[in-house]
Amino acid sequence: MGVRFRGWGIAVPDRIVTNEELSQTLETSDEWITERTGIRERRIGGSAKTLGVLAGQRAMDDAAVSAEEIDFLVLATTTPDRIAPATATMVAHELGMSCPAMDVNAACSGFMYAIRTAQGLLETGNKRILVIGAEHLSRWVDWSDRNMAVLLADGAGAAVLEFDPNGTDLLSFSLGADGSAADLLTCEHGGYFEMDGKEVFRRAVRFVVDSAEKALVSAGISSDDLSLVIPHQANIRIIQAATQRLGIEMDRAVVVLDRYGNTSSASIPLAFDDARANGRIKSGDYALLTGFGAGMTWASAVVRWSR
Ligand code: ACO
Repeated sequence: MGVRFRGWGIAVPDRIVTNEELSQTLETSDEWITERTGIRERRIGGSAKTLGVLAGQRAMDDAAVSAEEIDFLVLATTTPDRIAPATATMVAHELGMSCPAMDVNAACSGFMYAIRTAQGLLETGNKRILVIGAEHLSRWVDWSDRNMAVLLADGAGAAVLEFDPNGTDLLSFSLGADGSAADLLTCEHGGYFEMDGKEVFRRAVRFVVDSAEKALVSAGISSDDLSLVIPHQANIRIIQAATQRLGIEMDRAVVVLDRYGNTSSASIPLAFDDARANGRIKSGDYALLTGFGAGMTWASAVVRWSR
């Protein structure tokens, strides 16, 4: 028994902010941002709710299911529109749902934590779950702080997951959290995101590699068997360092951070959508989904696509 991915959808704001535009108000340059991060432009605007609604509706359309057919909404966000209520309840209302709805906050690992939560809910009696990662990070960026302003952006991605008594797309998971690292990447109430970028970088590579290796072992495959890696989109150099340590060539990694920046819990579904749009995902392929974020948290999963 297990879980099948049935549909996917994404939403990004229309407004494109290029590195060039940022360098008009910050002491930075397109060259520095591109070299150190791989980011060329990002999308800014909307809210966790409005982006989440759009991505959620598109995922339901893609799966050809209606709002009444969804049993549970799990919405991952680090940047809820309000402290209360949960953004999920407002998104569910907009989508015409009356099912249970809740937020999950595991920062940039949020989408993976939400998938893991949905798996448990599906294996204990629910038929179909909408999982959304939706972020309005730009609201919590000090736009005069070049450390964060060049990295963070807005967006949403969603997937419909369905119970299947006969098989599963989700072969394994490896999740973790280390709250002793809480101050490395933080945003206080009423404040802005702050980060020790170097230390986050160092730990991110270690956590991604460790959790990916555990997920591969538990799925019973090796990194050679992977057709694709769909990583959290924080920094191209983190993706390069982690894939190199895992023995995976970069042409098997999906990269969209050049266009979208770091959209936290939206970044893995944004990357998945891009891979699908470019015909990079085929039925029977193994893929590694892997992320890390504030907390610090981390999460890897091995998936075998059945569609
Ligand atoms: N533009 C131009 N120069 C800059 C900028 C900038 N935006 N930021 C820093 N610099 C300067 C520094 O002042 C420093 O100058 P100096 O050599 O004269 O002292 C130089 O560039 C190098 O700075 P470093 O901080 O050493 O740069 P580094 O190579 O470490 O790159 C970065 C910084 C991109 C932040 C990197 O550390 C990183 O990506 N870390 C991980 C970030 C991340 O993944 N965060 C994840 C999650 S976000 C979330 O969860 C919401």
